[in-house]
Amino acid sequence: MIEIKDIYKTFGDNDVLKGISATFQTGKNNLIIGGSGSGKTTLLKCIVGLHEPTKGDVFFEEENFTDMDFEQRVPIRTQIGMLFQNSALFDSMTVEENIMFPLNLFTKQTKAEKLDRANFCLERVNLAGKNKLFPAELSGGMKKRVGIARAISMQPKYLFVDEPNSGLDPKTSILIDELIDELTKEYEITTVVVTHDMNSVMGIGDNIIFLHQGQKWWEGSNKEIAHTDNKELNDFVFASKFMQAAKSKL
Ligand SMILES: Nc1ncnc2c1ncn2[C@@H]1O[C@H](COP(=O)(O)OP(=O)(O)OP(=O)(O)O)[C@@H](O)[C@H]1O
Ligand SMILES: [Mg+2]
Repeated sequence: MIEIKDIYKTFGDNDVLKGISATFQTGKNNLIIGGSGSGKTTLLKCIVGLHEPTKGDVFFEEENFTDMDFEQRVPIRTQIGMLFQNSALFDSMTVEENIMFPLNLFTKQTKAEKLDRANFCLERVNLAGKNKLFPAELSGGMKKRVGIARAISMQPKYLFVDEPNSGLDPKTSILIDELIDELTKEYEITTVVVTHDMNSVMGIGDNIIFLHQGQKWWEGSNKEIAHTDNKELNDFVFASKFMQAAKSKL
């Protein structure tokens, strides 16, 4: 479980986050949604320590991560897997080398053990045998899956995923969502997904927070979101004519 308490983040005179508190549950897909520029990525980066919050605290289980120095954070950092908005694979490394990168950095495993783990992770994301390909030889969906394989290579307790569906066709998007959902439930991971994809919200949104004007404007599940009377959330969720038409059937 991750708890964030009263998180503020200001860049210059831009108050992006203005007092966000939330709990992200273990074994659940916790979604952060909101319009472009609403601060989703900023919040994610504040949680994992890529940004320091201007104010507020982040707790991993009972431990105050924000209060810790670099060294003290290492044990928690090694339990964090992250998939960035653009997959962020190393172009000069093969698929296998990309997945083994965190293991090389943080473990004392032998080459054979690391290879075993890389193969297991590749199999888990349905890319068995693609070890020797370079990122440039992969489709967008394959890159995301390699990114996920790398994110789970260290058997993380916490998984952070920023826009897993950006640039993917709807069918591949659903496969990626299903994979994230399966891993979350199978390994009891506390997963935090940033998205503005409504299919993901409806498909895997166990717990959802909606950011608007720097605040947590709404919180609930995918079952509740369709029936909310929150105006700004409705404007966001049912922005497209298709979703408006679908709403009448929900
Ligand atoms: N490193 C930074 N320095 C200055 N301003 C930043 C920085 N990172 C983000 N911002 C600002 O914070 C605001 C929120 O950006 P953020 O990337 O968190 O939005 P987002 O909700 O993830 O948007 P998107 O859906 O487009 O990815 C924007 O106004 C952006 O300009
Ligand atoms: Mg973003």
